[in-house]
Amino acid sequence: MVSPAPSPFTPLSIGPVRLATNLLLAPIAGYCDLAFRLICREQGGVGLACTDLLSPQGLLRGTATSLDLARTSDEDKPVGMQLYGSDPALMAEGALWAVQHGATVVDINMGCPVDKVTKKDGGSRLLCIPDCAVQIARACARVLEPFGVPLTCKMRLGWFDDQPVALWLAPRLIDAGAKAITVHGRTTVQKFSGVVNHDGIARVVEAVGNHCKAAGHSIPVIGNGDVREPQDAIEMIRKTGCAGVMIGRGALSTPWLFRDAWSLMTTGAKPPEPTVAEKIAIIKRYMHYMLAFRDEHYCMYQSRRRISWFGKRLGKELDDRGRPVGCKPLKEAVRKAQTPAEVYDALDRFVAGELRGGEIDQEATAY
Ligand SMILES: Cc1cc2nc3c(=O)[nH]c(=O)nc-3n(C[C@H](O)[C@H](O)[C@H](O)COP(=O)(O)O)c2cc1C
Repeated sequence: MVSPAPSPFTPLSIGPVRLATNLLLAPIAGYCDLAFRLICREQGGVGLACTDLLSPQGLLRGTATSLDLARTSDEDKPVGMQLYGSDPALMAEGALWAVQHGATVVDINMGCPVDKVTKKDGGSRLLCIPDCAVQIARACARVLEPFGVPLTCKMRLGWFDDQPVALWLAPRLIDAGAKAITVHGRTTVQKFSGVVNHDGIARVVEAVGNHCKAAGHSIPVIGNGDVREPQDAIEMIRKTGCAGVMIGRGALSTPWLFRDAWSLMTTGAKPPEPTVAEKIAIIKRYMHYMLAFRDEHYCMYQSRRRISWFGKRLGKELDDRGRPVGCKPLKEAVRKAQTPAEVYDALDRFVAGELRGGEIDQEATAY
């Protein structure tokens, strides 16, 4: 009898760390803070969540901004801490700091296209100076090894469209000690334009697979880019052969996307959409965490800028004429609010059926 093919939808292991699922929350600078990571985790399906990019200098000097960004908690586990930079010794010191402050995994940013980072040879600029990227990976992996904390690298396909550096750099990083590679299926020149290149990711999966087979081990490649619906995560795995999926912007509007994607993968069914009251409760919980971990100023700043993202999933109920009722007045009320109490009040009024109207828009952008 022929045994059935193993399911491609299985929990991911990164080195010695076994995750509950194969879905990861991406770093999104300015968005994926502790409060947001916790609300995604509470919905279910998150195998690993990552901090936004952290400066090793900032961590080692103990600057308030870096410490806020690196903040984690017992509930925020397993957690990846992502470092950026170009000095192998400094990055290794940063990796040690991360372990001593609760990192389950340490990730190196090799994908950020922002000038401020690339001008100092960090982020995706490392794709142009591969020897430096490898030295960083080796130095960090050496520091992490004794703690059993795996090193991961997150990269783009390459800097230029016609130079798929990830194909040969990923195997070199694995030889240097990386235990997983995440690939965002775009190049640096593309930034966030166009659509994710599944073929490009598939080629990296194949290159890493061939390399590891020869070496007699197996290192997962995690696919990333444009996963906005549960079905997109399944497609990412089917089209690329990747072992896990990292989700960024999709989670900003849909913190329950991990739960839905994992359920669809493992049971074939998507749970019912949260009710309006449940969606609002998630936003309130997010505010509660921001007030607990940070302060009112931060909570108001994030609430005002994030309501557009949450709004993508609000007001979808249909009116008498079969059109979505919209939530424009809610967004306006939240943007004009001066205090958390005013935001809570607007959210309550929305649940009560007020502050509806306007088109469902796609205005939210994170870049
Ligand atoms: C505003 C913004 C900030 C980001 N910050 C980071 C970051 O700090 N570290 C990182 O590795 N990637 C960062 N990314 C890239 C995302 O992690 C992810 O690779 C990219 O958005 C594609 O995935 P998505 O389509 O699921 O969002 C950022 C993306 C955006 C839009």
